[in-house]
Amino acid sequence: MTPALIVHGGAGVATPPALQAERRSGLEAAFAAGWSILGQGGTALDAVVQATVTLEDHPLFNAGLGSCLTEDGTVEVDASLMDGSTFQTGAVGAVRNIKNAIQLARAVMTDGRHVFLVGEGAERFAREHGLPPATMDELITARQHQRWQAQQTAGEPGTVGAVALDSAGGLAAATSTGGVMGKRSGRVGDSAVIGAGTYADSAIGACSVTGDGEDIIRATLARTAVELLRGGKDPAQAARAALARLTRQTRGEAGLILLDPFGRSGVVYNTESMGVALRLGSGQALRAEGRLVARV
Ligand code: GLY
Repeated sequence: MTPALIVHGGAGVATPPALQAERRSGLEAAFAAGWSILGQGGTALDAVVQATVTLEDHPLFNAGLGSCLTEDGTVEVDASLMDGSTFQTGAVGAVRNIKNAIQLARAVMTDGRHVFLVGEGAERFAREHGLPPATMDELITARQHQRWQAQQTAGEPGTVGAVALDSAGGLAAATSTGGVMGKRSGRVGDSAVIGAGTYADSAIGACSVTGDGEDIIRATLARTAVELLRGGKDPAQAARAALARLTRQTRGEAGLILLDPFGRSGVVYNTESMGVALRLGSGQALRAEGRLVARV
């Protein structure tokens, strides 16, 4: 089986020209991190985690370092992941003082007692499992602090995620975010909710979603998109149909990446922009900021 990988850097308003090159290279680095795992015969789950960690560590994406702030000026992150071969999942919501929420979600999955931890309990779990803490000062970038001070709530892209197909035919999905600027403390969005922001079933497909979290939860968008693949349907069509359903049901703005067991992809968004890097078994192409930028 030829592996495939899609990485996204969030759907939203167009990236300011001054930031485009840096965002693009961040996406390409995340793609390279995930692809090197797949290229060595690694699992789809490891690949999506590594791609997501790379974007969490990049200050220009709204996840981990560079997360947007709550109305109180704090950072609270959400993340989830799913292994489509085992149906194992892990999710965390409204977690403070952690940079790599996706690793925390993975630790929740590996521990296996629960699938979803939030707030203080999730932070304690992170400490008990040796995940490195990060202070608010370490997580808040000057750029996000300025946006918070100016109450800039425009839908800037930044939630991150990835879907992958490994050489054994396994599919996996991961999503991580700082949420939306000025959110209430304690708010949890779609990125932490399996079926809404993240879903994978190795027999059908894998999906990671970005956009208006409340609407995406209402529409259970990730699972909807994967279910629309049943019967070997074309992922591009399934992705469009899922997004159309979201628009009809909620008028929400969103984007999603979808991958099927044959390595075919669907990438759609109804916002101005969504940065994507991808490589598929056929027609291999690397895309970023919604444009084809390189062949790999
Ligand atoms: N889609 C990210 C959020 O609404 O939290």
